[in-house]
Amino acid sequence: MEWNLVFLAAAFFVGLWSIQGVISVWRVQKILGDCPGGEILWVHPFRVLSIVVGSFFPFKGQIGHYFSRFDQYRSYGSTILSSVVFSGAIPIFWLADAEAIKIVSTERSLFPKDVAAYEALNIYGPSILGTEGSDWKRHRNVAKPAFNEANTSYVWSETVRVLNEWFSHLDTTQAGKSDITINLVKDMTQVTLLVISSAGFGRKVSWSDDLKMDALAGHTMSFRQAVTSAIDNVFVKVLTPSWLYRLSQGVRIPIISKAMRNAQRSFDALRGHMQDVVEHARADHISGISRTDAALLKNLVGANMAELGTLKSLSDDELLSNTFNFLLAGHETSAHTLSYAVTMLALYPEVQAKVYEEAMRLWPDGFPEESSSTTFSQSFLRLTYTTAVFHETLRMFPAIIRLGKPVQRDTTLPGYRFQPATSDKLSTNIQDPQRFTVNIPVGSVVIIDIFGVHRNPIHWGADADSFKPERFIDTDNYRWPRDAFLAFSAGPRSCIGQRFSTVESTCILASLVLKYQILIPDDLKSLPRLEQERILLDTTPQVTLTPNNARVQLKRRA
Ligand code: HEM
Ligand SMILES: *[C@@H]1O[C@H](CO)[C@@H](O)[C@H](O)[C@H]1NC(C)=O
Repeated sequence: MEWNLVFLAAAFFVGLWSIQGVISVWRVQKILGDCPGGEILWVHPFRVLSIVVGSFFPFKGQIGHYFSRFDQYRSYGSTILSSVVFSGAIPIFWLADAEAIKIVSTERSLFPKDVAAYEALNIYGPSILGTEGSDWKRHRNVAKPAFNEANTSYVWSETVRVLNEWFSHLDTTQAGKSDITINLVKDMTQVTLLVISSAGFGRKVSWSDDLKMDALAGHTMSFRQAVTSAIDNVFVKVLTPSWLYRLSQGVRIPIISKAMRNAQRSFDALRGHMQDVVEHARADHISGISRTDAALLKNLVGANMAELGTLKSLSDDELLSNTFNFLLAGHETSAHTLSYAVTMLALYPEVQAKVYEEAMRLWPDGFPEESSSTTFSQSFLRLTYTTAVFHETLRMFPAIIRLGKPVQRDTTLPGYRFQPATSDKLSTNIQDPQRFTVNIPVGSVVIIDIFGVHRNPIHWGADADSFKPERFIDTDNYRWPRDAFLAFSAGPRSCIGQRFSTVESTCILASLVLKYQILIPDDLKSLPRLEQERILLDTTPQVTLTPNNARVQLKRRA
């Protein structure tokens, strides 16, 4: 009897909630006006949950589908689409339009960073990634001078050093065999982590010495292990509501308590390592004798030792949090992009041949053992085709696929309308697109749809779905569309490490091709081309676009 009442009451409230939801969604859909779309979203597209369910929800053919690229824009015949999140009735506008995106990324006060979406990254405190306003400006001012040209040349020479170690490690592993198959994400993660640790934080460790050294210094986990497991656990922590997290620390809850303990253990281990790095730099700062060229660490520690409240100061928490976030942002995106790039080189031998030609012209006597700042300025500029391969990879596989920005007051954005596609045909030319204006009400969220705008044929042409590095090379009568390339975002909140990663990645790609022929692994060689692509480029939605199966066979060139 009582249960019936409870059930009735529950049904009543669920019903009330649904009716309320339906009414507010209906109201919002009227506000969306004549902007094409108007679909309901069950998950906010710029929250962690959207990544967790991303591989299956929203479905293919719905607005917001993780892999829809330009498909929905094509079928609605518009470069701006509207939708509404059911819970909270939040209007969401999807932008795959270079001009609209340029406005959104330039006007920082009208379209600020959606700081709520970045809470997960504040494990150690606030940092450059998750702050806004004057706080963010302070973090950015501290870090910025470390990304000047002199320091970029240091990135180049540190990349050369790490690559030489990787290559000799490969030689040892390969011993006697003519080729070797590598797991790209694993190796690229190690290469890029060693580069950011050293060029950014003065932590020069050799390829295989990491473990030994850490055991000596009394750490529970190696530095590398601590970084990678802390990053994996950011996800675990985010998905656990904070009350459950606190409860699980006091009471034993099966599975959850264990997962939380592991997460905490990784965060603590990494904290220990970061404190070591910071202590070294503090001692240097006090003695005035610097043992490292890593300007980022010097600047962060210098700011931590400056008087609090000044324009360039950081608290202890902020110092640690920036260290963590630079380690994270400074390697994962690059590692995943490089994994896609090397896979594409195996799939497109004619592209690889051009990279080889370019690398041979630069390094006719083989890859240098070490490099200086003068070699950087002479070398990097000559790798234009290799740089184009890196850019084209980022266009097709943007590590960060979308960015949400909350709208602060009523405004408008320009879009294009065109004849909706009638078939499923991919890249076709868009005939006669017409400008139109979309009203964007305060309280909406606009999504910079990086994946979408990167496949927009109005900007990239009818072959927008094909891999063609040449499109990133200017000629006398062609300039590649800068405003339609958003892999590093744009405007004041754009990636501070863009040049860092471009220089590092170009060096890695050119040297790898110089030393090795990159081939499809033996076990996939007999499969049809499309099947090879499907397997090697298989991707899971994570914080950054993640290749599951990227592996290639390396064959040493004679
Ligand atoms: C292929 C490599 C990379 C890609 C695709 C990439 C992409 C991005 C994007 C899209 C943003 C904007 C994020 C947002 O608005 O939430 C961003 C911001 C940022 N990136 Fe990168 N990034 C890369 C490499 C790096 C590297 C190597 C570093 C550091 C050495 C770095 C450090 C940062 C930082 C600190 C920010 C926040 C900047 C701010 O808010 O002021 N990134 N990155
Ligand atoms: C990096 O830039 C700083 C200025 O922030 C400069 O003092 C330092 O010498 C540069 N480091 C290198 C290795 O060139």
